[in-house]
Amino acid sequence: MVRRLTQVDHSKHVQPLPRPDAAAVTPTPTGGVPVIVDGLCHRYGPLGVLADVALDLDPGEHLAVTGPSGAGKSTLLALVGGLDGIQAGSIQVGEQLVERLRGAELADYRRRTVGFVFQHFGLLEALTARENVELAMALAGQSRPARRRRATDLLERVGLEERAAHRPAALSGGERQRVAIARAIANRPALLLADEPTGNLDEDTAWQVLQLLSEVRAETGCTMIVVTHNPEVARRADRRVRLSRGRLIA
Ligand SMILES: Nc1ncnc2c1ncn2[C@@H]1O[C@H](COP(=O)(O)OP(=O)(O)O)[C@@H](O)[C@H]1O
Ligand SMILES: [Mg+2]
Repeated sequence: MVRRLTQVDHSKHVQPLPRPDAAAVTPTPTGGVPVIVDGLCHRYGPLGVLADVALDLDPGEHLAVTGPSGAGKSTLLALVGGLDGIQAGSIQVGEQLVERLRGAELADYRRRTVGFVFQHFGLLEALTARENVELAMALAGQSRPARRRRATDLLERVGLEERAAHRPAALSGGERQRVAIARAIANRPALLLADEPTGNLDEDTAWQVLQLLSEVRAETGCTMIVVTHNPEVARRADRRVRLSRGRLIA
């Protein structure tokens, strides 16, 4: 039985994420990857946003990045996730040098190595919860039966099996974020990046989402970087760094 998020019993151990039919799912690295950021600089025109940022994460480590609005946190995450081009410096994720990735390799990196969770959920409004989760797997080349099975398991895992046919507009903020988490982990990413994942949620819902993220990390062993304004979110990380005017402070 998969435990529902709404029935969390804190005294119980985390149950493993169901891995039905692992053979039908494209092999991706299980567990986490090391992440090494070195000399990372970024500008938007005349505006310098990141200045010589360096970071070193162990496989499976959970890092929280805090800092004021406009400090460059989202930019840092977008660069690590391969969503934005690296102008100067280096980002190594496992064996991959992100600044060297181009075309299909870069698309593959975004789809398989990295999972992204955003403040505004980033779900496609025209698709149901299930279709949103399945789309991530379709883009990674999964067969239809494999992704149907895994989407069912993932939605069950996040406690939304009864909401599978609902579109985002019919879901609460917390439910949308749980769908987004199911989508983010669908391809078993070795690195989970979350940009203010609770920024749009009330306190109780934020707690549920945080709990789910912690469980996902414990179950998959993925490396996790969470950008947050929330001290409670940061407190859960193994390590905290602060970004201020484009520079990292431990
Ligand atoms: N695409 C962009 N074009 C121009 N300026 C941008 C762009 N994205 C972000 N910025 C600017 O870069 C700075 C850092 O932004 P961001 O990384 O989003 O910070 P944070 O996530 O810490 O709030 C801000 O001053 C922001 O206005
Ligand atoms: Mg931001």
